[in-house]
Amino acid sequence: MFPWYDSHWHSAYQAVYDFLQKKYPTRVGDFVNALMPLKTHKDFKPIIAHDILCKATLSEANAVIAGIGIGDWEVHEVESFGRLVLHDHPYFTDLQQRLTEQVSNIVNEEVVPSYNFLSIYNGRGVCEPHLDNPHAKWTLDIPLDASAAWPIYISPVSEWPTKDDHTSDWQPNIKSSLPFDAFELAPGSGLAFSGSSQWHYRDPAPIERNFYSHMIFFHYVPTTMQALVDPLAWSDYLGIAEIAEIASTFQE
Ligand SMILES: [Fe+2]
Repeated sequence: MFPWYDSHWHSAYQAVYDFLQKKYPTRVGDFVNALMPLKTHKDFKPIIAHDILCKATLSEANAVIAGIGIGDWEVHEVESFGRLVLHDHPYFTDLQQRLTEQVSNIVNEEVVPSYNFLSIYNGRGVCEPHLDNPHAKWTLDIPLDASAAWPIYISPVSEWPTKDDHTSDWQPNIKSSLPFDAFELAPGSGLAFSGSSQWHYRDPAPIERNFYSHMIFFHYVPTTMQALVDPLAWSDYLGIAEIAEIASTFQE
């Protein structure tokens, strides 16, 4: 339904919303209210946590990356993002766990880790504008090593899109219609933002011989929403069997 990377969750939300409005209009409010904690307060602004990794941890993290075998990386985003990725590596899963309390304090909400992934960008790195699925309501983005600065652009908190009205030029429209701020962090510092409600993108990587940028993305979800963040849980929650079928068509 929606065209951006990682849009399957928002598409499921919209499809179930439309279905309820048509077939069970008295239940729309229950659905919207149940998922409300996944929305982000409109006044939230990205927060920089300087040196959230100490020098020793940063060195250790980079050594772990250097030790990952080339065959262990996931290659499905080489073409679209110019990056190798690796999900939930044990070292980084442990590090994410240890940062949980700090992230809860930064975003002013109790959170638990949902998933994480390493990204190793090359000179073809790019990241088109998108919203994350709310398993990543909160992201702590930490650059680990880079050959050059490469900013991420983040919009204010936006309402979730409510209709499938994206034309072929939706990307430039998003970029020009919202006041994006650029963030550039030193390795070891973290940027906390709400990727599921803040559009974000990176321009094509700087033209530089042998450009590289290594980052870890730690994703967190509100503790109270661990179960209901999964669209496959909505059917039982509302006691409406048809929702399971709708939600299953929008699985990643
Ligand atoms: Fe994202």
